[in-house]
Amino acid sequence: MSRLPVALALDQVSFRYPDGTAALSDITFSVRSGGRAVIAGPNGAGKSTLALLLNGLTRPSSGQVTVLGEVLGRHNERWARQVVGMVFQDPDDQVFSPTVAEDICFGPLNLGLSAAEALSAARESLAKVGLDWDSMADRPPDRLSYGQRKRVAIAGVLAMKPRVMVLDEPTANLDPLAAEALLDVLDELSREGVTLVIATHDMELAASWADTVVLLNRGRLVAAGGPETLLSPGLVAAAGLRPPRWIAPRQAEKGGQARTRPTCTSRTRRTRTS
Ligand SMILES: Nc1ncnc2c1ncn2[C@@H]1O[C@H](COP(=O)(O)OP(=O)(O)O)[C@@H](O)[C@H]1O
Ligand SMILES: [Mg+2]
Repeated sequence: MSRLPVALALDQVSFRYPDGTAALSDITFSVRSGGRAVIAGPNGAGKSTLALLLNGLTRPSSGQVTVLGEVLGRHNERWARQVVGMVFQDPDDQVFSPTVAEDICFGPLNLGLSAAEALSAARESLAKVGLDWDSMADRPPDRLSYGQRKRVAIAGVLAMKPRVMVLDEPTANLDPLAAEALLDVLDELSREGVTLVIATHDMELAASWADTVVLLNRGRLVAAGGPETLLSPGLVAAAGLRPPRWIAPRQAEKGGQARTRPTCTSRTRRTRTS
């Protein structure tokens, strides 16, 4: 068992939508403080539903979600939304103010920060996502590229200084360079000790990034463990996924070593036929 404290824990969590759809059934797992967790599963597995449960936007039908030692409920709803930042899959569900600056200031102002404090937090978080304040602050978000809007959405969440961040399909619809830049932002947050949770069906991303893997299929937990979980053909198939074709050496790269070509796992088609 890890000696590090647990940041997130789900205990026998189930969730049913009002129309009766059982989206999650009896899910139990935990993520250590400062961990990098991937929730992986095919379409309809329950990833987005699970993401919404993690910051109290949705309440479980049964079971409990614990964040930094606090069981989520009505009494700590506001706290949960500040502590657990949620980045939706589509930035257009998140970015709605007339200008980038107003959008990023919205969260901090809502938390009760003064205008000057909110502005300072907004500047800092825009820089963290690699965007220039002077050229971006007054621009209407709907005139930005998809990748820029995604970064603005993340900056808006970062401005609230969350200790846990949940990102739903963060690299979906991003070109490879934009996806790489986004992962750099996540690496930096990880170094700062922010606990990260990504929902994705991108197995290469999961294999090269996660230290905790949660496999879901049809609302059920298939497995929860370390990244080696993704190399178990039985578990991956049970989750309705395929094994990663390659694992990008992101960790080594960030440690200052030379950029190398992606490392093939032993399960690529090329290996089998050669
Ligand atoms: N608002 C909703 N009302 C009813 N069922 C929903 C709703 N949103 C999602 N679902 C259903 O819940 C299940 C899990 O969906 P979702 O969490 O979006 O999965 P994923 O993000 O892994 O694709 C699916 O069967 C989906 O059809
Ligand atoms: Mg989803």
